[in-house]
Amino acid sequence: ASSTEVDVSAIEPGQAIKAVFRKQPLFVRRLTGAEIQAANAVDTSSLRDPQTLEERTKEGHEDMLVTMGVCTHLGCVPLGAAEGEVKGEYGGYFCPCHGSHYDTAGRIRKGPAPANLEVPEYEFTSDTVIQVG
Ligand code: FES
Repeated sequence: ASSTEVDVSAIEPGQAIKAVFRKQPLFVRRLTGAEIQAANAVDTSSLRDPQTLEERTKEGHEDMLVTMGVCTHLGCVPLGAAEGEVKGEYGGYFCPCHGSHYDTAGRIRKGPAPANLEVPEYEFTSDTVIQVG
């Protein structure tokens, strides 16, 4: 009852959609090849919350980044999921409340947030549908 199904088939590379999971915003983003490259080019040992893109996505679906749309600082909704919103200095998401910048893997790169955007429990139930929770 507390899980959410999201059809991801219409999300073009470079686009994201916002959904709702357990009354909180959920971002589902299809990464471009360049965004995947940018994420994989980072030395994870330099990160505040070291994780690879591979660890934050599902095998065979490394282009689909599913995160909560909740800043890990004080819970604002970051910008970058909707068309035309700023994505911050690292091309992912930007939280305007106190200036946290997340990269194309949703990892915290600059600003006060202590951790990466949370990746919720989810699975692909088909090539185009994910079930979150
Ligand atoms: Fe996002 Fe403070 S709540 S930077």
